[in-house]
Parts: sequence; C-alpha cells; structure tokens
Amino acid sequence: MNRNIIVLDTTLRDGEQVPGAKLNVQQKIEFAQQLKRLQVDIIEAGFPASSKGDFQAVQEIARAMGDTVTITALARAVKSDIEAVYESIKIAQNPFIHIVLGTSNIHVEKKFNRSKDAVLEMGVEAVKYAKTLLPHVQYSTEDASRSDFEYLWKTIEAVVKAGATMINVPDTVGYAVPEEFGELIRKINERLKNLNDKVILSVHCHNDLGLATANTLSAIKNGAEKVECTINGLGERAGNTSLEEVVMGLKVRENYYHCSTRIQTTELVRTSRLLTHLTGLDVQVNKAITGENAFAHSSGIHQDGLLKDKNVYEIMSPEEVGVESMELILTARSGRHAFKNAVEKMGFEIGDANEFEQLFAKFIALADLKKEVYDHDVFYLVAGHRAEAVSDSRLYELESFQVVTNDLSPTATVALKRGGEVLKGSEVGDGPIDALYGVIKSLSGLDVSLKHYKINSISRGKEAVGRVNIQIEYGGKTYSGRAMDTDIIKASAIAFLNGINAALLEKTQESMEEGARAK
Ligand code: KIV
Ligand code: ZN
Repeated sequence: MNRNIIVLDTTLRDGEQVPGAKLNVQQKIEFAQQLKRLQVDIIEAGFPASSKGDFQAVQEIARAMGDTVTITALARAVKSDIEAVYESIKIAQNPFIHIVLGTSNIHVEKKFNRSKDAVLEMGVEAVKYAKTLLPHVQYSTEDASRSDFEYLWKTIEAVVKAGATMINVPDTVGYAVPEEFGELIRKINERLKNLNDKVILSVHCHNDLGLATANTLSAIKNGAEKVECTINGLGERAGNTSLEEVVMGLKVRENYYHCSTRIQTTELVRTSRLLTHLTGLDVQVNKAITGENAFAHSSGIHQDGLLKDKNVYEIMSPEEVGVESMELILTARSGRHAFKNAVEKMGFEIGDANEFEQLFAKFIALADLKKEVYDHDVFYLVAGHRAEAVSDSRLYELESFQVVTNDLSPTATVALKRGGEVLKGSEVGDGPIDALYGVIKSLSGLDVSLKHYKINSISRGKEAVGRVNIQIEYGGKTYSGRAMDTDIIKASAIAFLNGINAALLEKTQESMEEGARAK
C-alpha cells in the first residue's frame, strides 16, 4: 500500500524572501487560493515577526483559507516570534507553530555564540511555550545536514520530549547529496519511531547544488513523511525543492517510491503560471514539469516516435499537469461564460456579480482593441482592476505622459496623480527611459535609484505585450515594481511608479508602527 506524503508549500514564506518576489496581501491571498485548489496539505503563510505587513498577510490568509487548509508560520525560538505566529494564525481551524533553531556547529558558535547545551535549552523552552498556545508544533533543526549527528539527535529527542509533534530536517544551505541525506533521514527515522511513533518526520531542502528534488525524494525513500517545497522552486539563492518535481516524481515513479500525495496535479502548471505573473520571475524554458518546453518535442526522430505511440518518448502526459487547457484565446464574441472560465483558469476567484460585470466590460473593450485576448491579458485585466479598487491616496498614479526620443535630447513630460493633486513636469535624459524615470523621480521627491530594469515580450505578433520589471533602492532597501502594457513606455512608467508606491507604503507603515510604539 502507498504511504501518503504530506505536502507543505512555503512559497509565501521561503519563496517570498527572494529579492523582487515580494507580494502584497491581495496577491498573497490570490496565490493561497490557488494553493488550496492545488490541494496542498499545509500553507506556510509567512514570518509574522518580520514586519507588521507580514503579520497582517498571514492573518488574512488564515482568515480566508484556515477552515480548509492547515496554516502555519515561522518563528525563531523566542517568545515574541512564537506569540506573533500564534496571534496571526489562531483563527485557522488546525494551525501549528513552526519554530526554527540551528544545530550545526557553525550556527551554534557563530550565530548564537552560546554553548551547545544553552542553544538546546533555548529550543526546548520555545517548544514548551508554543505548546501552551497550540497542540501542534513543528521544530526545524536549521542546517541539519551540516550538524554533528549526535548533537542533532540529542536536540530532536529533547524537543520531542518537550512536545514537538513534527520534526523538520532542513538542508538549509543545499550541501547535502542524495545518498548521504537519505541515510541521515533513515537513521533519524529509526530512532524517532522508537522514541514516539506519532511524531511526523519532515524534510526541507535547498537547491544550491541542483540536488533539492533528488535529496527530497531520497529522504522520502528513507522514511520522510512530509516535504516542504515551493512552486517553481522559488526560494533563497538557488531556491527550494520544487513542489511540482517532487509530486510528479512520486506519481510517475509510484512503482519505485510506493508513495502518493493529495496534490491535484492538473493544477500544477496553472499554479506555476500564476506565480510567474504575480512575481514577474520567469521559469526557465526547459524547467521540468512547468517550463514552456517541458512537453515540446522538436527532434524529427522524437516527433515520428510520438506519432506512432505517445509512450515512446512521453513519461507523463501534458494533460496530467494541466498544460492542455492553458492557452486561452478569447475574442469580443466570447461570452460571459468563456470569460468567467478564463478568469478562473488564471487562478482568480470570481468576485460578486457587480465586480464581474465591471471586469466583463473591460474585457470587451480590450477584445475590441486587441482582437485576440490571451491568458496574460486576462491576468493583467483582473490584477489591474483589483489594484485600482484598492487605490490609496498616498500612492502615485500615471495621469498622462509624452516621451520624445532622439539622439540629442530625449525628453519626457509626465503628469502624476496623488489623491486629489496632479503634479506635472518635464526632464531631459540620456535616453527615453532615463528621461521618463528622471521626471517621475523629481515629481515624487524621493531619492530612489534604479538598480534593475528588464523588459520582456510576453505575447505574439503585432499585438505583443511588454512586461517591465524594475528594482529600485530607497532608504537602504530594495523594492520592485512590475507592469504590462502593449505600450512599453507606459509599462515602464507604471512599473517604476509601482516600485515607488511599494516603498511609500512600507515607509508609512513603519512610521505608523513607530508612532504607535511612542505612545
Ligand atoms: O532553510 C531552512 O533551514 C529554513 C527553515 C526555517 C526550515 O527555511
Ligand atoms: Zn529554507
């Protein structure tokens, strides 16, 4: 009989730590709703002690999704972090607290500068405290793969005795190799089952050597019952274990692993595309399962073989991961039903009837203009509409612009709206984007510097849509902005404004928090 493997998705916690992948609350909820359709068992929604914004996002996700999916969030082994997790997830039906503390010599000596016994005691106290708040507590032995085994086990034994119900073994720096990591999990599992066979053994791998999926599968083979992954393998540095790879690895090689998951695999590609749209971070074309070429056969020999029998070169079908229905081509004649279907396929929840009619009117206007409407157009339409709905008087909007480019003095003239005020200005730059960004920067009065600018075409033919991703630095922090439009100058302006708005929102949030603390 197959063993069931529990899948925890940490895209919204470990994945979101990636520079440029920051999502707002609305986007996080949109993504969490798609994770629910994908049927992940657990969503790790964030790190609430890291900022007020993260706390609120975790709370919103727990409120919106906590009745059907298990919700957790991360805490360091300190009371205030544990309280922040508890307060943000307690509304969910079956929440648990996730505590992390290092076990490797380098973490104990360099990060904490304490004795091994003192660090172990910190972990035990943290678990005991978390248990006073919730019945389920996960303990992560950070940097486990580089830890001295006897100290690692001593820690696991102590935290299980203190009440931990899940032990997570992370390969934090992606140092592990499959045979060795599998052996580590086998040894831990053997002792853990003797100690308390109710405690769940979990793994969490990083991809620095490109081995995260292999290490995770090897851990499963050796007894791991739960895996922590992210969509598209998004995560720190080279990323985390890719959820879609592990899930399909188990499904396709069920004869070897004898394990299965609850994941609705036909939602995999849709989830991957939604994340790409939300973060602006593309998946490499040859990425397993979700890359654009993952099911494309170009060599003549392969095509010939496939025409004779699909199984000649195909180990899984594109339909199984949800590829077949991804490309949506709508026209002005597509009715409400087709449009509703397209919105849902992009991973959005349909709002009330009133909102739907507003969206449909926008869709008809777009279809008249573009003739053919693709999935990214639908995405942009809905995301843009929802962003307008939460328009905030602190934020800048593009009212109008004109850019004149030549090799003497490229000039941009821009009008921005902020609340009831309209600000206008002109500036000359080295090129059209330099002029455009120069005038927006002057009008905002913020000393931001552009660190990264990227433009991609995400459509075909003459109706091509340009997607612009930017990163700016302001007050020592990095903020990103994205926008899509058939007019790439307009997309460039809006992306830059979105970056500035992200910085403004964070700064006002921080001053509100300071104000509250001062009272
Ligand atoms: O990589 C890591 O060690 C982590 C832990 C919090 C599980 O992300
Ligand atoms: Zn991690």
